[in-house]
Formats: sequence, C-alpha cells, structure tokens
Amino acid sequence: MEINIVKGTHDVFDDEARGFDYIEMVLKAVADLYSFNQIRTPIIEHTELFTRSVGESSDIVRKEMYTFLDKGDRSITLRPELTAGVMRSIVLNKLYATKDLPIKNYYVGPCFRYERPQAGRYRQFNQFGVESVGVTSPFQDLEVIMLGYDALRYLGFKKVNLVINSLGDKESRENYREALKNYFAAHLDEMCSDCKERFNINPLRILDCKVPSDHELALNAPKMRDYLTPSAKARFELITKTLDDYGIPYEIDDSLVRGLDYYSHIIFEFHYQTESGVDVGAIGAGGHYDSLLSEVGGPELSGVGIAFGIERLYAVMKEDNLLKDTEVKTDIYVMPIGEKAIEHAFSLAQVLRANAYRVEVCLENKSFKQLFKRAEHVNAQLALIIGDNEIANNEVIIKDLHTQKQVNLPLDNLLSTLDMMFNTEEEEHHEHCDHEHHECSCHHEE
Ligand code: HAM
Repeated sequence: MEINIVKGTHDVFDDEARGFDYIEMVLKAVADLYSFNQIRTPIIEHTELFTRSVGESSDIVRKEMYTFLDKGDRSITLRPELTAGVMRSIVLNKLYATKDLPIKNYYVGPCFRYERPQAGRYRQFNQFGVESVGVTSPFQDLEVIMLGYDALRYLGFKKVNLVINSLGDKESRENYREALKNYFAAHLDEMCSDCKERFNINPLRILDCKVPSDHELALNAPKMRDYLTPSAKARFELITKTLDDYGIPYEIDDSLVRGLDYYSHIIFEFHYQTESGVDVGAIGAGGHYDSLLSEVGGPELSGVGIAFGIERLYAVMKEDNLLKDTEVKTDIYVMPIGEKAIEHAFSLAQVLRANAYRVEVCLENKSFKQLFKRAEHVNAQLALIIGDNEIANNEVIIKDLHTQKQVNLPLDNLLSTLDMMFNTEEEEHHEHCDHEHHECSCHHEE
C-alpha cells in the first residue's frame, strides 16, 4: 500500500528543485552584495520562543504551530519562521557583545505552519531571509527594503508591488489600540468569534480578519497614521521620501498589520501578479522590530528583516517564464554499445568528470533509440559512443547532438579535442552574448 504525503507538504524534484536552487543562489548573492553572513539555526525550538516573539495574539501561535512534547516532556515547536530563532541565537551566543553592530545574518530553510493548504500556501515551506540587528537608523530599514527590491529585480521581476505601513512606536500603538477598542466595542456582537478574542488580546489583529463582515468593519476603523507620534511619523516620512528619491514605487496600505506581533514602525510586503493574473499572496515580507531581542532575553536593540517564500517565488516565476536559466545541462553523454563497452564507458565518464565535464553515462545495454532518448532527456551537447570496434581501435565516436555531425577520434586525443570544442563554444557565446551581467549565467571575463 502506498503511503500518502502529509497534507500541505510537497516533494521538490527536477525542474522545481533546480528552480529553488537558482532562486536561493540569486538571493544569497544579493545578501552577499549587502554584506550579510549566513546563519543556520535549528528547525526545532522551545515553544516559548515563539509565544514570546511571534506573539500570543497571532494566528501563527494560536492556531498554526506544530507543537509537541518530546520524550523529556519539553514543549517543542517546529519553527513557523526563522526570525525568532535568529534572535535567540544572537542572545545565547552573545553576538551582540562579541560582534560589532549591526549583526547581519541571512538564512534559508524550511518552516512549518498548520494552515489551510491552497495555491502558494503549504504546511511545510521554505523561507530565505535576512535580519539586521543593532542599528536604529531608518536607513537600516531602507537598506533591507532595497535589498528585497534588488533581489526581486535580479530574479527577473520587472514590476512588483511594494505595500508598506507604519505601526509606529510603542506610544503610537498604545494610543491606536485604545482608539480601535473604542471603535470595535460598539460592534462586538457582529464580529466573528476569533475577532471577539482578538478584541481582548490585540485589537490590531481584527484589521487582518478575512471574514467579509469583519473586513467591512475594519475598512471604516480608525487609521494608524492618525495615531503616530510626531517622531514615528517623521521616521515613516523619511522612509517614503527616500523610496521616492530612489524611484522605488510603493503603496501605503492603512490596513496592513502583518501576522506577527513583534513589529514596530515600518512593515512591508512585496506582491506580484503574473501576466495571467495569478496572485499567490505576498512573495516576501518583513519589517522593523524594537523589542524582539529583549523579548527573548537580550538587550534593547532594534532590528529589521525580510523573508521571501521560495515556493511562492518559484510559482510566479515559473508562470511568467523567469526561470529559463535552470534547464539541466549535460556536457557529454557516454553511450556504451554492447555489454562489454559498459566498463569502458564507466571509466571514461570518471576521467571526463575528473576534468570537470558534466557527464551522464549509460550503465546498461540499451538500444540506440533508448540511448538518444536519454541524451535528449539530460540535454546533452555531445555523445561519446563506444562499441566493440572502438574498443579494439582505442577510439571513440564523438557526436555533436545539435548538428548531428560525428567523427571517430583516437582516445589519446579526446581531452584536447573536447577542450577545444567546449572553449570555442564558450568564446562564441561570449561574442554573441549581450546580456546584462546579472542576467547571464555565463562567466564573462572582467
Ligand atoms: P511572513 O509574512 O509570515 O513573515 O512570511 C514571509 C514569507 O513567507 C511570506 O511573504 C510568504 O512568501 C512565505 N510564506 C508564509 N507562509 C507561507 C506558507 N504557508 N506557504 C508558503 N509560503 C509561505 C515572516 O515569517 C517574518 N519572519 C518575516 C520577517 C523577517 N520579518 C522580519 N524579519
């Protein structure tokens, strides 16, 4: 009997696995441009880490965490996101004291949320993100937003929607909270049971409710921007002005609150609609935080971060053909003809790989038809064919799979011939290649 995959999870292979690799490679390169260092934190953390950081009022903590008792009766949670774990690591490893500030980390890895599965929404998904901790300047927030914007441009996106809002400082939020409570108190009877709870724990969360009648109520609720303190307002204005100066388009959305409790000041989401109108939700999102590090036991240091959803990026990039660089590429397919040639093919493949060629080799006795089908499947440029005659004459047949031309070649000349063939091809490519540097996977001489 087959064993089903767990609902909301998925296997990633072939094109999708190559797509993920490509996306992660580009995102790492951009994080590198902005001088972030990699951090790897565990997938399992103590549950308390998330209740304290992501917050008791968030849907993630209230409904979506994979939490269990381990054999030592400790409450453990599969991380629903990576920001909290990065903060825990900064605190436990005292990075804030031993490293110069800001501490700038990037990360990539799986997250787990028990959500209702739908397009772009999984129960296990992958995030790539960055966190910069230790600088209060709004330019640090801008740097992370621009990193996000650049990352999407490098991935080939021509037009993305950056949606922003400000949650202000603590004082702004307290004033706003009061205003929301006064407003929603009059409508408590009409609200869904979740929102009734939200009303008591964190009325800001009601603004995020997807129930249509509550959504309607939320539209007419007081606006955060009217409750920002002068300094919080000035900070937000500096950010919007700088985005204007740099020609980065954005939209201010008063109802944007984000699903995690740790934010203050700027919050943002990147959205994208494919040419055919598909929208899988935010492809990347983040914001500024002031008390997150102290909430998990560290000093009062501000930070800012963003995380992209790899599955969502892949889905929209595939739909709009932005993944063209990720085809399988095999330099050479070694084809043995007859049982005896298999061993020769095997050893030839090893020699070629030792010389840095990407090689696939057939290790069974197959028909020509099957061999050429496989060559096509692995997208090979050349075939090396060896049968009894070639073994007897210490030769190999080289066949160019694009032009279909083939020649017999003494084995002794094989490496020098391949070297010539592959180098000429690369030179020709460079001559004709007028790609922008970042759009081209070929290695340009500087
Ligand atoms: P988030 O908005 O919860 O923020 O998640 C970030 C991104 O992860 C989303 O924009 C989306 O692309 C992806 N994502 C979230 N849930 C799912 C899901 N169920 N299936 C597929 N993709 C999903 C955070 O997690 C924050 N830690 C971001 C951050 C970093 N804030 C500051 N630093």
